[in-house]
Amino acid sequence: MSIESMEFKKFPNNSQENETLLTDEMYQENLCKLAERIFVNENFIGKGNTADVFSVPEMTNVCCKKLNHSDIKPINSLEEEAEYLDKLSGISEKVLVPTPVVTIEVVKKVEKKNLRGEMVFVNVRESALLMKEIDGVSIEDILEGRVQNPAEFLEHLNVEEFFSELGNFIDTMNEQGIHHRDLHPGNIMIERGTLKPVVIDFGHAAKKYGDEDIYKQNVFKRDFDGRMKEVVETFISDKQRVEQAKIKILDEVKVLTLNR
Ligand SMILES: Nc1ncnc2c1ncn2[C@@H]1O[C@H](COP(=O)(O)OP(=O)(O)OP(=O)(O)O)[C@@H](O)[C@H]1O
Ligand SMILES: [Mg+2]
Repeated sequence: MSIESMEFKKFPNNSQENETLLTDEMYQENLCKLAERIFVNENFIGKGNTADVFSVPEMTNVCCKKLNHSDIKPINSLEEEAEYLDKLSGISEKVLVPTPVVTIEVVKKVEKKNLRGEMVFVNVRESALLMKEIDGVSIEDILEGRVQNPAEFLEHLNVEEFFSELGNFIDTMNEQGIHHRDLHPGNIMIERGTLKPVVIDFGHAAKKYGDEDIYKQNVFKRDFDGRMKEVVETFISDKQRVEQAKIKILDEVKVLTLNR
């Protein structure tokens, strides 16, 4: 595998935090080297339907999201996702959104068999999004029993306040015309220590410009016969999704209290 070309887009808008995540020297000197390493998978920290997330040992508190070319074609590119993160990561002190650092697009030359069975080199395009790594767990991680000590998150969590802050954040975001459209429990995290809500994964987000119905959109999904098909996806509103998560977390807190 060799890298043929690389393109970077740095996200400086929320620069206060970004300066500590990515200094100028690091950007100039190390990013090319880093990009070569990023496209070799390791240090896995999270999995979704469309992407995998890895930590980046060279950069403190930074993780890397890469598309996994699975059965669902992502709606937003990682660059578009980073633009949503950039716009929203500073708007609230009570609800966090990971600050984006940089997106990287590479063209790799990969050896592959062609239809005649001969080994040939083909160009493959890949992209990555580097963003702040959240120290915390997703609500889904807790519900699915993937958290070693859920009491660390649930014991002192004020569920009403958590979801009321999340609701306020959604109102502000929706007023700006931005809709997340995928606020399932895997995309809501709880920050360790502060127990603040964190909204991640703007891969399905959309901006509403006029009176168009952004809660319906054509998307590509792999069918049972293995082919990608275009289907109409109907999204659930951000507020409704968060209400569903709240009910599940309240149940989990009850179970924890009963078992004590
Ligand atoms: N900034 C972050 N810091 C820490 N962990 C993260 C971060 N972003 C994502 N993760 C972890 O990686 C998982 C997958 O990331 P993400 O939700 O962005 O992928 P996805 O494939 O788009 O998900 P979905 O299935 O919702 O479409 C998350 O559920 C979370 O556990
Ligand atoms: Mg997700």
